[in-house]
Amino acid sequence: LREWKELARIVAEEDALEEACRRLAAGEPVAIPTETVYGLAADATDGTAVARIFEIKGRPRFNPLIAHVADMAMAGSIAVFTPLASRLAGAFWPGPLTLVLPVREGSGIHPLVTAGLDTVALRNPRGFGARVIARLGRPLAAPSANTSGRISGTSAGAVNADLGDRIGMIVDGGPTRVGLESTIVKVEGDRLLLLRPGGIAAEEIEAVAGVRLERGASGVQAPGMLASHYAPDAPVRLNADRVRPGEALLAFGPRRIANADAAVKVLNLSQRGDLKEAAANLFAHLLALDAVGAKAIAVEPIPAAGLGEAINDRLARAAAPRQDSGEKGS
Ligand code: TXA
Ligand code: MG
Repeated sequence: LREWKELARIVAEEDALEEACRRLAAGEPVAIPTETVYGLAADATDGTAVARIFEIKGRPRFNPLIAHVADMAMAGSIAVFTPLASRLAGAFWPGPLTLVLPVREGSGIHPLVTAGLDTVALRNPRGFGARVIARLGRPLAAPSANTSGRISGTSAGAVNADLGDRIGMIVDGGPTRVGLESTIVKVEGDRLLLLRPGGIAAEEIEAVAGVRLERGASGVQAPGMLASHYAPDAPVRLNADRVRPGEALLAFGPRRIANADAAVKVLNLSQRGDLKEAAANLFAHLLALDAVGAKAIAVEPIPAAGLGEAINDRLARAAAPRQDSGEKGS
């Protein structure tokens, strides 16, 4: 039997700023809402605090974290911005874009955050995240608030169910608006490498940048992205054209596959076929379908364009072969 432990204190974001800052300043990781997913945040300049993030998540140490900043001034003190990088930050910050840039010497970012790389992943979140960073006056390292390899938390309840016995405080900002992690782009001179599709569609970034996002680098550039991730307990079966006995169904759009009625339970990512709505529902629906104890979760085909790229990416990782090699994601 598992030892019973008290679950985390859940505090509404309106009332949480002071307490969150106090705990963070004392080196304690705190789960906070961002517009993408909840983050497990700690002072990015404090190695002990950052080490606790890895421990709580069971995350491999070679997988670097995103440093979250309050504004452009803080970002500029940490990393070197080319004009192209500045243009992207200007267009999409605060928001779900993470830029991988050369880290400055004396940035103060602890090497555990960057896993010793000479680059740093930077993001300026919207809302509570930005407020808590500004008040603390320090960048926050914050991976998604979930056990490594599991589904990212998009509500305080989901975070509590996963990490509640390992952390002291969860700041409740309601369900996250975007529902998927940030898009990660590495800026290399005039080239842009898409390391992870996410909450901003690649097409939108290309329109601002005037160059194409190069794909296929993620395996090398973001080691934590290699294997199974976002994994519910039930196996996930993609592009289903019929339901098999005992399966639950994750649907998309107004039309159902032929024998949808045979499913143990059906949840629709977006009845009207809207990818933004589908992204916002993705992780919560996966958790809810997992909870019915179905034999597997069948997933209807989802279009590949726009936010569909990120949705299909997360689903492919949820369906990837499971292994316990420590190669799991973030
Ligand atoms: O929306 C988000 O990005 C959320 C919220 C909390 O901000 N955070 C998040 O963090 O998704 P995490 O740790 O789950 O994912 C960060 C990813 C990892 O795949 C990591 O490998 C990659 O960013 N990464 C971090 N630093 C990097 C670097 N210097 N070069 C390449 N990849 C990097
Ligand atoms: Mg993650």
